[in-house]
Amino acid sequence: MNPKTQTSDQTLFMLFLAMGCLWLMGVASTSLLSGKTVKGPSFGTIDYKAYTLLNIARPYTTKVKAVKIKKRILMNPSAFTIVRPPIIKEKSYWPVREEVDCSKQKCIALTFDDGPSENTKPLLELLKAKKARATFFVLGLQIELFPQLLQKMIDEGHEIGNHTYHHKNLATLPSDQVASEINSVENLVYNTTNYRPHIVRPPMGEYNAADPVLANYPIVLWNADPWDWRYRNPVVINNEATPQIKLGSILLLHDIYPSSVEAVPKLIDNLSQQGYVFVTVSELFGWKDESAIPKGQIFRGR
Ligand code: NI
Repeated sequence: MNPKTQTSDQTLFMLFLAMGCLWLMGVASTSLLSGKTVKGPSFGTIDYKAYTLLNIARPYTTKVKAVKIKKRILMNPSAFTIVRPPIIKEKSYWPVREEVDCSKQKCIALTFDDGPSENTKPLLELLKAKKARATFFVLGLQIELFPQLLQKMIDEGHEIGNHTYHHKNLATLPSDQVASEINSVENLVYNTTNYRPHIVRPPMGEYNAADPVLANYPIVLWNADPWDWRYRNPVVINNEATPQIKLGSILLLHDIYPSSVEAVPKLIDNLSQQGYVFVTVSELFGWKDESAIPKGQIFRGR
């Protein structure tokens, strides 16, 4: 054996030893954490607080720590009791303005699907500047990535609708999986904002009309679709959308594409000139409170 090979063998041995130690430390810290109560409004975010972990008196609020703790919980979930503190707000939110009456006004509902994403924040700024309300049909997967944008949507008067967790075709799923796709997003939105979305848009507009889970919600589809996901060009999107829009339309766009967000200023300016008011889906149909929500019906426009 030449000295070079020997050195590399020793290095390899030390490396394995170090990896073994790290693994043991991981197991030890997991068992040390077992049985503790974990408090926090949402995992992996800057807001995460784990006061009781490791018996450390001061709360951890850093993102790194939250991610580490989440990993340990995922390794051994049954050992932990997850406690989400109640969110206390002055009043509950409902995405409808008193002064809006779409039986008299020229209303249009802009809807944005598949987000939130990195394009949603600039979109929210645009909508705010244009004083336009919209509806966001959000995905659970995306909420996990951009949880802070949900509260911003609500603070700025928009509506949040349920677009399922994974964007699967609901028509091909058994009912228990449809329930989990819908309920997980409802709980995620509620735990993040204290707002429970009351409208559902099935991915691709595909669903089984006999599904008992979907019978609990109004199914909100669309009647204007510029195929923004295909064209990815703001000029083309506007050209495609304009002739389709009529009084009481629901327009389908996707806030995961920068080109769709870029199409919005011109779209709003053109429609404003024609006297359109930009409303949430609940405003479009005059759903002023929980009792006004029709269940198990399909809506494509007013
Ligand atoms: Ni979608």
